[in-house]
Amino acid sequence: MSSNHHPVKPQTAIFSKGYDPQRSEGAAVPPVFRTSTFIFKTAAEGKRAFELAYGLDTMKLGESPALIYTRVNNPNCEILETKITAWDGAEDAAIFSSGMGAISSTCLAFLKPGDTLIFSDPVYGGTEFFFRRILPMFNIRTIPFPAGASKADMEKLVQNDPTVKAIFIESPANPTIMMSDIGAAREIADQYSDDARKILLIVDNTFMGPIFSSPLKLGADVILYSATKFFGGHSDLVAGLAMGSKEHVGLIKVFRTILGSNSDPDTAWLIHRSLATLQIRMEKQQENAIKIVEFLRTHPQVQAVAYPGLPEMGENQVELWKRQCTGTGSLLCFFTQGGEAEAFKVLDAIQHMKMAVSLGGVESLIEHPYSMTHADMTAAEKDHAGITQNMIRLSVGLEDPDDLIADLKQALEKS
Ligand SMILES: Cc1ncc(COP(=O)(O)O)c(C=O)c1O
Repeated sequence: MSSNHHPVKPQTAIFSKGYDPQRSEGAAVPPVFRTSTFIFKTAAEGKRAFELAYGLDTMKLGESPALIYTRVNNPNCEILETKITAWDGAEDAAIFSSGMGAISSTCLAFLKPGDTLIFSDPVYGGTEFFFRRILPMFNIRTIPFPAGASKADMEKLVQNDPTVKAIFIESPANPTIMMSDIGAAREIADQYSDDARKILLIVDNTFMGPIFSSPLKLGADVILYSATKFFGGHSDLVAGLAMGSKEHVGLIKVFRTILGSNSDPDTAWLIHRSLATLQIRMEKQQENAIKIVEFLRTHPQVQAVAYPGLPEMGENQVELWKRQCTGTGSLLCFFTQGGEAEAFKVLDAIQHMKMAVSLGGVESLIEHPYSMTHADMTAAEKDHAGITQNMIRLSVGLEDPDDLIADLKQALEKS
């Protein structure tokens, strides 16, 4: 968006993009449109709205179709969907009832029985469950490749297998913080796509986006978010997002309507309220995380720390981080000396952080991936993905960083 030919930054655009106060009695902030259904002015208007919602026709330039029913569309959801594209530069966005709603609806929109999806491993535990247990029930094969795999290793999975129709990358990976090469995946998708098959590149951008990474600009077709995390930012809602071209998001919205994975006006309104502070929250949380990482790296009870850009992540990981991200974010892992018992001692001794799953909220959340978020993976799968018994995941919040360090210090002394 621009005014006087000066292109404004996302932080400015989100204050006005997507909302016309004149359509809401001049209200400075969108009211909550808490309604299940919308009244058509004429039968023809209703017919046209359904044609567009079910993808039976495409929208004409300047056309503004009537709203139908909140499972299909709602002003709060639509305002948010327009605003939220400001950072990633997407043509369109779709809001969901959860990140898992976005992931499952997107995969089902593009994959059919007989197809194969390859995915960076590990991914969030719910996504793992969906890929390893649910998609195969519908005869959709899923094959993991290690997060951070070389282009050649990813390519091996695609070159002799014409059933591969999608590459799914979560970068950085939950919980190992390992980056995967989005540019290389794009090249592979292009090289092996033809008239008979299109390989879709899907990236879960929850950990770094939208402030510190923009996978659409690196070649992703669709990006996904758990909006429960940084977008919502206050641990008081559950939501998801999918973004990409109008064509891709249009199809995803048809599946959302029929699967019923839509969000609701109150949730969309709350996320809308969180947008103005998204950038400053993510920047300050990152500043706090950097201080905590510095502390943990020198603590004798800590075996190792995983955080984007650290030299101990390996040369390839640092190179990928520099190429794909503009910041380090506020998610990290550390490994206690010992195993589960020592990790549990630290977790049980924590006073100011909250021991809970989820991440990206204003309060620091600490958890044990092996037995909590990633509990469903087998021991061998966890071992393979680098999820160990002594690993603790920390999402750094907005508390005073000195207090957080003191909290970790006293807890580590008890391990
Ligand atoms: C990277 C990532 N993707 C997706 C999800 C799922 O999101 P939700 O819990 O909103 O369904 C999570 C949840 O923790 C996550 O960490």
